[in-house]
Amino acid sequence: MKETNNLDLNVEYMKTSDLDQVLVIEKEAFNSPWSRNAFKKEITKNRYANYFVAKNEQEVIGYIGAWIILNESHITTLAVNPDYRRQGVAKKLLITLFGRLVEEGVNKVTLEVRVSNQSARRLYTDYGFDEAGIRKNYYQDNKEDAVIMWKTLKIK
Ligand SMILES: CC(C)(COP(=O)(O)OP(=O)(O)OC[C@H]1O[C@@H](n2cnc3c(N)ncnc32)[C@H](O)[C@@H]1OP(=O)(O)O)[C@@H](O)C(=O)NCCC(=O)NCCS
Repeated sequence: MKETNNLDLNVEYMKTSDLDQVLVIEKEAFNSPWSRNAFKKEITKNRYANYFVAKNEQEVIGYIGAWIILNESHITTLAVNPDYRRQGVAKKLLITLFGRLVEEGVNKVTLEVRVSNQSARRLYTDYGFDEAGIRKNYYQDNKEDAVIMWKTLKIK
């Protein structure tokens, strides 16, 4: 793990020029990684999509994506470079996203997470998500079940 104490974290909208670095994290983090085209389509074509990267100086070290549809949002992805985990990067990405959602008048956020993904489930629970049910065989690679989580946001 890299030196942890002095991250110079900055969160900004994901750009196509970030995708080389995003894809390195994506391939490490997920069994069925999204392609460059999938990300590119999201950030250039999908008007419901909001994607952010966390940068330490110029290096992309994590990212989050969500769709906003009317007053609801669906978190589509979240990952952090393994060298930078447990330093609050995911927390910062979530907080930035929640700020954006509140600005847009969103008051409900949902996501799916693998039943086996204890670290992410704990993160989401810490951030006010409740487990609302199970989607059986949701993940195509190993037919794992997904936990469906929801959070209510307070609109100002
Ligand atoms: C899940 C993930 C995004 C967390 O990123 P992170 O930057 O390390 O998370 P943070 O440092 O912000 O952690 C926030 C809280 O989440 C929980 N958490 C995060 N990682 C954890 C772990 N390995 N074990 C237990 N709890 C964990 C803790 O409550 C933690 O707070 P604490 O460090 O004060 O105890 C990261 O592990 C990751 O990229 N995993 C692979 C991809 C993935 O599973 N994405 C989620 C898909 S739904």
